[in-house]
Amino acid sequence: MERTYIMVKPDGVARRLSGEIIRRFENRGLRLVALKLVVPTRETAEAHYAVHSDKPFFGELVDFVTSGPVVAMVWEGNDAIALCRQMIGATKPINATPGTIRGDYTCDMMSNLIHGSDAPETAAEEMALWFSEGELLA
Ligand code: RTP
Ligand code: MG
Repeated sequence: MERTYIMVKPDGVARRLSGEIIRRFENRGLRLVALKLVVPTRETAEAHYAVHSDKPFFGELVDFVTSGPVVAMVWEGNDAIALCRQMIGATKPINATPGTIRGDYTCDMMSNLIHGSDAPETAAEEMALWFSEGELLA
């Protein structure tokens, strides 16, 4: 069993797509182990995307992620990290296949609805950044 940090970004919440996104993970058979609605602080957003701090789009990215509430979640299942990334779809809109969340609902490189951890190490870091241990189900 593996756990991954998943986040509906502010555009997804604003577009009322949180329920649709959660439904997809539930339908796939993943188990929800934590969930909260939160407006990210700049500090949390910068830590979350620290790997991109030297990229030209970093400032815009932090502005975007802090622009409104996000749905922060942890999902559990077999190969949950790769499985969720597959369901989310590629970052580049032209590569986000129809049937994926991004492929079905966005063609924007920045406002792309959802984040998913990309490796076990980042999943552990992100779960610790967004949740306290007591907020995660056993
Ligand atoms: P995420 O981390 O949010 O799950 O997205 P990702 O792995 O698919 O993409 P990543 O390369 O980690 O980029 C993080 C987020 O930054 C925005 N972005 N904008 N304007 C640009 O060239 C650009 N590139 C990336 C997107 O919101 C992307 O999801
Ligand atoms: Mg990423």
